[in-house]
Amino acid sequence: MKTYIHQAEFIAAPKAIGTTVPCFSRKLTVKDDQEIAKATLQISALGVYEAEIDGNRVGQFRFAPGWTEYGKRVQYQTYDVTGLVHQESVLSVLLGDGWYAGRIGRDGERDPEKIPCIIAALIVEYADGTTQTVLTDSSWQVLTTPILFSCMFDGETVDFTRELENLGNAVVLERDHDLLIPQEGEEIREIMTLSPVEEIITPKGERVLDFGQNLTGTISVCLSGKRGEMLEVSFAEVLDKDGNFYNDNYRSAKNKIFVTCPGETVNYSPVFAFQGFRYIRLDQCPAETAAQDFAAVVIHSDMERTGDFACGVEPVNKLYSNIVWGQRDNFLDVPTDCPQRDERKGWLGDAQVFCRTASYNFKVDKFFRKWLHDLALAQDAQGRMPHIVPNAFSGELNPSAAWADAATIIPLQMYMTYGDPQFLIDQYDCAKAFVDYVHKAGHEEYLWLDGTHFGDWLGLDAPYGSYKGSTDEGLIASAYFALSTMNLVKIGSAMGKDMSVYRNLYENIIEKWNETYVTGEGCLLGDTQTAYALALVFELVENKQPFADRLAALVKENGNKLKTGFVGTPYLLKALSDNGYTDVAYSLLLQTEFPSWLYPVTKGATTIWEHWDGIRPDGSMWSTDMNSYNHYAYGAVYDWIFGEALGIAPDYENPGFKHVFFTPHPDKRLGFARASLKTKYGLVAAAWHYEGDVVRYEFTVPASCTATVTIDGKSFPLGAGTHRL
Ligand code: BGC
Repeated sequence: MKTYIHQAEFIAAPKAIGTTVPCFSRKLTVKDDQEIAKATLQISALGVYEAEIDGNRVGQFRFAPGWTEYGKRVQYQTYDVTGLVHQESVLSVLLGDGWYAGRIGRDGERDPEKIPCIIAALIVEYADGTTQTVLTDSSWQVLTTPILFSCMFDGETVDFTRELENLGNAVVLERDHDLLIPQEGEEIREIMTLSPVEEIITPKGERVLDFGQNLTGTISVCLSGKRGEMLEVSFAEVLDKDGNFYNDNYRSAKNKIFVTCPGETVNYSPVFAFQGFRYIRLDQCPAETAAQDFAAVVIHSDMERTGDFACGVEPVNKLYSNIVWGQRDNFLDVPTDCPQRDERKGWLGDAQVFCRTASYNFKVDKFFRKWLHDLALAQDAQGRMPHIVPNAFSGELNPSAAWADAATIIPLQMYMTYGDPQFLIDQYDCAKAFVDYVHKAGHEEYLWLDGTHFGDWLGLDAPYGSYKGSTDEGLIASAYFALSTMNLVKIGSAMGKDMSVYRNLYENIIEKWNETYVTGEGCLLGDTQTAYALALVFELVENKQPFADRLAALVKENGNKLKTGFVGTPYLLKALSDNGYTDVAYSLLLQTEFPSWLYPVTKGATTIWEHWDGIRPDGSMWSTDMNSYNHYAYGAVYDWIFGEALGIAPDYENPGFKHVFFTPHPDKRLGFARASLKTKYGLVAAAWHYEGDVVRYEFTVPASCTATVTIDGKSFPLGAGTHRL
């Protein structure tokens, strides 16, 4: 829909200004004889912007307009600025490179070809019914600012002593106005601030502040110092084994802040840079500025917290807290793999692995709806998916199994959690085109053998020097081909479509998969934990028990420890507990030695790590080339805790928890457990605790909803209300 902003011009700085953040400014002359009934600002940018009217911040959106497939669509925001506009107001807008022109949005380098620009319309409605608009055009002035450099990866440099310069009138750029769409996702906001919990002088003698939590955002500081004095800040997620500041894992992302003090006290916080950190090092700091003058500002998409969990084992509760923080820290408009190194991209594999857990922690329907729309737009005409969305990589698309399959997995999961068929309607064509592509790809019609696959990424059974676990790539890819085909059948069937062609395709894939990868009674090619986990959870094999027996044996032989990577880990516990090995699943969950979910907890983790041994038992670190301490993917274990330990699951026939399945798998080692989720119908909850050897259960079913409880193989119905058994 065309609106005022479509009549405005995209405007840019009149000359090359290097890395300086420009300020676009326009004096408003509103009618002095009329009362303002309403004032609205519609605004967007190719880049990131922050707007002010007379020094008052407009809205609370950080890094607006957010990150979309910029070649296809750019969100604009609409703010009510009624109280801010006066007769002689000045509207000013800061503009940064952001994802559009900065290093983050490309293969790794700033794009000199891309010129950041803004577009805006201020609409003033008077009490007499008349309207006045102020649009961006060449009458806007462009000024330099004290911000000399601001980059999402590298940080910010600010000189408050700098003389500001008027660069003259803005220039108009020819850009496609049809790209502009209204805000679709959640706003990115400052969600909370944390004060330092400790000031440390490290063995190297460096002054470090610990915020007690690995987080995404930045710092704010009430900065006092003599004119010209410097504040220089470095960031880190961890300290090394000697207690020294360690951030080599940031790779080329500099994450540095330099501020030259103006002389008087200022409140400073970086505008267009964010960092993933728990610690800051004060490399230079004026004597007048104390530790308490610093705060960490937590920034992420503003999602409502809807889920909760607790149990009788404290390290598991800490793991849950780490999962929730991992989500906060990586849901910054797009689901990023990590928030700290020179990456921070919307990797499809990570997102699909975590999407169910994500929807059991926070209300993420709006967040994923926007991202899935970009995902569909990023698909090519042949049905191929990129590895990341928005796709910041150049070159031809070459989809990888388990990454590309986000196209079918995430819409179906959102439908299951939220019961909104629009997810299916919006994503059907994309999901179908992807399955059709895989069907046609390569020389085997019913297997997925070609392509550049990430395999069982980071699997511990990887051959020396490789990041890919040893599970056969064709086995994984063809298993996902089956899963995505079945997901497509479910998506289409829920929309009332005849999906018999894809049902047949699915049957053929299953037959071929068994022919190719089942090597004997209960045996799979390669004999890896991941292969069995996929076969069982994706229901690829008919007689599951011998395969489950083999999986349980492999886990036990390995000392109740996993060997799985990105692909196998999310399914490992379910594969066991669905097939008579709940005790083995709990042994894995409660394992505290490397590799396990609780091992990082014993090492003081406050988020989920990329590597099970990001910090090794001897205190050394995993190699710097790939070692994030804030990678949410393995946090998907909450699927199992919520869906199997507590046993709460939605029903495909009545999604959104209109009908709930409760199939709890209690274990005395947890003592008690309880989990809940605020659904659109109300609170769904399950709890159990042990009294001696007796298990007591409690289930909560929202009004107008029904449930089916299954305990010890016996099922019975439940109506709305809280029931104790
Ligand atoms: C990312 C992962 C991602 C992977 C693809 C990495 O660099 O951090 O999380 O899924 O690449 O294999």
